Amino acid sequence: MTRKILVTSALPYANGSIHLGHMVEHIQTDIWVRFQKIRGHECYYCCADDTHGTPVMLAAQKQGMAPEDMIAQVREAHLADFTGFHIGYDNYYSTHSPENKALSEQIYLALKANGKIESRVIEQLFDPEKNMFLPDRFVKGECPKCHAKDQYGDNCEVCGTTYSPTELINPYSVVSGATPVLKTSEHFFFKLGECADYLKEWTAGTTTLSDGRIQPHLQAEALNKMNEWLGTDENGNGTLSDWDISRDAPYFGFEIPGAPGKYFYVWLDAPVGYMASFQNLCNRIGLNYEEFFKADSQTEMYHFIGKDILYFHALFWPAMLKFSGHRAPTGVFAHGFLTVDGQKMSKSRGTFITAKSYLDGGLNPEWMRYYIAAKLNSKIEDIDLNLNDFITRVNSDLVGKYVNIAARAAGFITKRFEGRLKDVANSQLIQKLAAESDAIAADFENREYAKALREIMALADTVNEYVDANKPWELAKQEGQEQRLHEVCSELINAFKILSIYLAPVLPKVTERAAAFLNLNGLRWADTATVLPEGHAINKYEHLMQRVEQKQVDDLIDANKQSMQTAAEAAPAEESKYAPVAEQASFDDFMKIDMRVAKVLNCEAVEGSTKLLKFDLDFGFEKRIIFSGIAASYPEPAALNGKMVIAVANFAPRKMAKFGMSEGMILSAATADGKLRLLDVHEGAQPGDKVG
Ligand code: 2FM
Ligand code: ZN
Repeated sequence: MTRKILVTSALPYANGSIHLGHMVEHIQTDIWVRFQKIRGHECYYCCADDTHGTPVMLAAQKQGMAPEDMIAQVREAHLADFTGFHIGYDNYYSTHSPENKALSEQIYLALKANGKIESRVIEQLFDPEKNMFLPDRFVKGECPKCHAKDQYGDNCEVCGTTYSPTELINPYSVVSGATPVLKTSEHFFFKLGECADYLKEWTAGTTTLSDGRIQPHLQAEALNKMNEWLGTDENGNGTLSDWDISRDAPYFGFEIPGAPGKYFYVWLDAPVGYMASFQNLCNRIGLNYEEFFKADSQTEMYHFIGKDILYFHALFWPAMLKFSGHRAPTGVFAHGFLTVDGQKMSKSRGTFITAKSYLDGGLNPEWMRYYIAAKLNSKIEDIDLNLNDFITRVNSDLVGKYVNIAARAAGFITKRFEGRLKDVANSQLIQKLAAESDAIAADFENREYAKALREIMALADTVNEYVDANKPWELAKQEGQEQRLHEVCSELINAFKILSIYLAPVLPKVTERAAAFLNLNGLRWADTATVLPEGHAINKYEHLMQRVEQKQVDDLIDANKQSMQTAAEAAPAEESKYAPVAEQASFDDFMKIDMRVAKVLNCEAVEGSTKLLKFDLDFGFEKRIIFSGIAASYPEPAALNGKMVIAVANFAPRKMAKFGMSEGMILSAATADGKLRLLDVHEGAQPGDKVG
């Protein structure tokens, strides 16, 4: 029975490069899709770039490009990276597409017609300089709980507290540095709270597939997590909040029908992008789109995602689909994060490895596909890329065990038997290999790739032991062993064929070349049960895979360290003790900042603030008050009386919460351990002297 299956990977954002973290997911998905296809099922793999939202809009601005041009360019780059790793999408589209616009509107209007959309006026932080509302991640400030500085507007990375951006102390806009103000605006909400009963049912539910298997919609760990969100409070009320699906202009996205200046939040049209990509494919190759998305669809739909976006895929998305009259997913498959040598990927260590650097370094993508597959299972566990293990495992398994089998037998068949095989249907070795077909297939089906590969490599060991026991190189020298040599080598070639089929989902290119060597027109799973017929001619063997060299891996890490230094968009190096160097400034930029020597007349703590010190300063030409956030570093403020400091004199005065106006900024050095040290002024300089 042929299954009809639609599969997706999460849509990568159009404002960043593809790295090995993305690759884990797309490799995991691609293996599954290739497995379904080789099993003879009708399976479509759709993806796209996730192109909307504030970060994309700001990234385009920063590059001086129209967002449409930037996303087109990024999509090309993403696709080149993925194609380089042999990810075989049936369609790689963009969420900035006419199909996605139409489908997003359609879903929104259907939800609205079903009473699931509500308009509310909310208060949000607004950047008065940039004239835009600020998403949580674009507001930073001091954590209201532990007072750690420079924390994002949604949660504190130091103490883990979650809060709303309006609770931050001394908030500032990441975009302009301005102090945000509260401003009201009308927003549209998807009434998710009303969908809780449906979601409880769906998240805990299963679908019976056409082959009779029972598919749980979520993994057990994911279901537990969702149950927390779907719980009730002490009064028995549901804790699932409604979802704010609109954003105000300026925004790069789709305008909401009937609401000028309001846009769909990127997370609304992103998953709709799965549908849009598939619809685009359907129109291109003549498939029945309706059959896959109608409410009572019998087709299967699976989303491969990272654990961080479960909430969107296991709650919002099924509810959006259901209450707009569509089918829900058959399964959402979440995976963990990738670590490198046991640690979070790091730009400063060079382990934030981009797909491009890997390909440009001439490393074989199938090495990484194999290694990642050998680590993956169906659980939501982080997986570790251990670089030494990577080299050992690939060289030992792929080169030493798999490829070697063909290399050991092919020469004899070509030179001694005109390239033709003997019928080995009765070979115990072959029967043993073929007997594992169902078990290995079940492992792939269940996303237990590590287990599948362990079994396949155990079979490869058996074959290599058979070679060692039968020594074809000795048979070749012995009189009267011609038949035996022919038989052993034919068994080895057939064994190689079966192993190639088992490995085909993981190693599409090597096994394609293996098929060409075997003189086969493609590899099908069903062919694990048959032997090549008597007299079947194989082609000349050409080496199928090189070994990984240590130097290639070292160079890769170096390349990623270097690209960190030159990357224009270099994010703060999470482990480096040095803050990244800021964007280049011109002499004119520098001249805009008027720095002066000032004398501390009086310095004291500020009541009600653990952070601020109040400085009375003599600038020579006038006296001023400046508040500085250095209290934690100077527990004895009075000790600063009489000292000279350097301060920015032409800063627009800033209101420091309830404490009063601050008329400038005192310069200090931020040390790696989070302290602030004032700058010393050498003897002879006077208050009011210009610094530059
Ligand atoms: O987290 C992310 O990278 C998102 N761009 C994933 C979107 S997946 C889907 F919903 F579109
Ligand atoms: Zn905190």
